[in-house]
Amino acid sequence: MLPVRLGGAGRLYLPNCCYSVYNTPAMSSIDEIKTRIDIVDLVSEAGVKLRRSGRNYIGFCPFHANTRTPAFVVWPETGTWRCFGECNEGGDIFKFVMKKEGVDFREALQRLALKAGVELETFAPQRPEEKEAHERLRTLLEDAVLYYRGHLLNAPQVLTYLRQKRALSDQTIETFGLGYAPPGWDNALKHFTARGYSEQELLDAGLLTERDDGQHFDRFRHRIMIPIRDENGKMAGFGARIVNPDDVPKFLNSPETPVFSKGRLLYGLDRARKPIRLADQAVIVEGYLDVIALHQAGYENVVSPMGTALTEDQLRLLKRFTRRIVLALDPDTAGQKAVLRGLDAARQAMDRETETAFDVRGYLRHEARLQADLRVASLPDGLDPDEIVARDRQEWQRLIESAKPIVTHVMETLIIGQDLNDPKVKGRIAAQVLPLIEDLPDPLERDTYRQQLARLLRVDERLLAAPPAAGPRFRRPRTSRQQEQAQVQPEPQNLPLSSPAHKVEAACLSILLNRPDLLFRLDRFLQEAGLGVLRSEDFGYTDHQVLLRLIRQSLEQDDIEPAEYVSANLPENLTGLWEELRTQIELDPVDDRLLEELQRNVILLRRLSLNESLTQLRFLQEEAQQQGDLRAASYAELVLQHTRFLRNLDQAGRRLSDRR
Ligand code: UTP
Ligand code: MN
Repeated sequence: MLPVRLGGAGRLYLPNCCYSVYNTPAMSSIDEIKTRIDIVDLVSEAGVKLRRSGRNYIGFCPFHANTRTPAFVVWPETGTWRCFGECNEGGDIFKFVMKKEGVDFREALQRLALKAGVELETFAPQRPEEKEAHERLRTLLEDAVLYYRGHLLNAPQVLTYLRQKRALSDQTIETFGLGYAPPGWDNALKHFTARGYSEQELLDAGLLTERDDGQHFDRFRHRIMIPIRDENGKMAGFGARIVNPDDVPKFLNSPETPVFSKGRLLYGLDRARKPIRLADQAVIVEGYLDVIALHQAGYENVVSPMGTALTEDQLRLLKRFTRRIVLALDPDTAGQKAVLRGLDAARQAMDRETETAFDVRGYLRHEARLQADLRVASLPDGLDPDEIVARDRQEWQRLIESAKPIVTHVMETLIIGQDLNDPKVKGRIAAQVLPLIEDLPDPLERDTYRQQLARLLRVDERLLAAPPAAGPRFRRPRTSRQQEQAQVQPEPQNLPLSSPAHKVEAACLSILLNRPDLLFRLDRFLQEAGLGVLRSEDFGYTDHQVLLRLIRQSLEQDDIEPAEYVSANLPENLTGLWEELRTQIELDPVDDRLLEELQRNVILLRRLSLNESLTQLRFLQEEAQQQGDLRAASYAELVLQHTRFLRNLDQAGRRLSDRR
């Protein structure tokens, strides 16, 4: 290990970002809107009088002339509505606006974004020329991996360093594609221009730098080259470590390029994504070489950022694979000083240095917003993860297993070395921790942490009870109706996004987006079971409907590959969702398993919606009967029809499980 350690510069900069919906990427804007706009409020504001019926609300349908009884039902928990009368239609907030105002999805999205105060990034879908340019950049970067690798094989001194000082096996060096950039100003420049690349392309890929006088030269000289790939294994850029301990900076990364964005990539994720999913846990460390050493030691669920603050984008990226995330940080980044700096909101606003602080509030917000489970494992002082596994392989596992929730980590860190017999000290610590606890959205968690704090400080828990006026600070904005309900049900925990139907729809789409061709086979299966093909109306959420329609269209043309067609015709703002869904499954080469999973999900989806409808229909039927409304008879018929469908579904489901 080289002895040089740059003060500060070598550390992981923890997030200092403030909570703002404007910061969130496009993929979340739709979700953001859904969580901010309450369907009951939206429908009521459109002039529909709703009244509560059990968990739902009912009223007269605004889309058709009415009889005596209401046929329009709103499910606040799932954020959806349905008319059981003439229209026999339903959907989410977007669909409601589309129908009410006669606009398309894009327009509805815009209006609701405005209403919710969410800014939609309007990045246009990638143009074909742009896409091609990106592909060319990536090809160049792949060539560069080979080029640097060739130089490493001819640099015995560097190889020895990697093998002996860093204890990396040849297999590991190969797997991670490590390389070496030789000294000199124009090695790469000459090599790649001779192979037909222009200097502009080399600049665009970040392999060259431009001097003030316009001269171009190699960006990476006499450095160990670490290829950085995106989560799909596509080349994005390089991290480059010094060989000579006196050189600065210790690590030089690719500049931001069209394919390299430090805040959106995580080093090692291409190799770690499967292990993360398997372990249902991701571990974040601070250094490239730590990722490599841990993978070599058999801990493959490990990734690292690239010397920048950990962003919400990065956490969101990880959340595709697991919600359980452990930050394995050394004391400089997560120890007492860092935590204290991170808690100091006043300093945070003005002081750049606090970027290196442990941004407690930032993490808690990310955790709540992403519904993740974030924990901190603090590493022993003075040892990097690679040194820990080298010393004792099991020790790493123990450290990760002992990771603590953020609030616990903060409490335990704050009391280290403090005199807890001093009431003033107790008071100060309580004053630092309590506001964090009061801000947590979950009352159960708040209570648990309060008890924990009382135990740690050895004070009576009642002394730490919540002040009556204090409420969580960053919760979804309360709407009027939620405020009314607040007395009865204090916490609107049930975000529309976590409804079972939403998940099942997403599961269907993630399979179809990877394998559009399976739609035909699914349709055939459904028809054989007397169930009718999959239609966009099977989905309750408009964004999902739009995607399914696109998948169908992609199969009705044969100019380009269906998957490509979908990506080319994707409405802006759905790119994020598309990307998220598409990468949600690991592609399984065994078709039948994917097809079966799709079939099962579609059956489940229809069953969920039929059951939901049945409950509501029976209720409406009864009501109509009491009112002497003629509609009662047609409700009865609908109930029968739904029951028949359910029976068919059950049969189809049984046939599927028999086949297994
Ligand atoms: P470290 O200095 O801890 O490096 O920086 P390391 O990965 O443990 O490397 P060794 O073990 O000393 O060889 C941690 C991370 O911070 C980023 C890099 O991503 C590095 O892996 N960093 C560090 C930079 O981006 N620039 C720097 O100048 C230093
Ligand atoms: Mn290290």
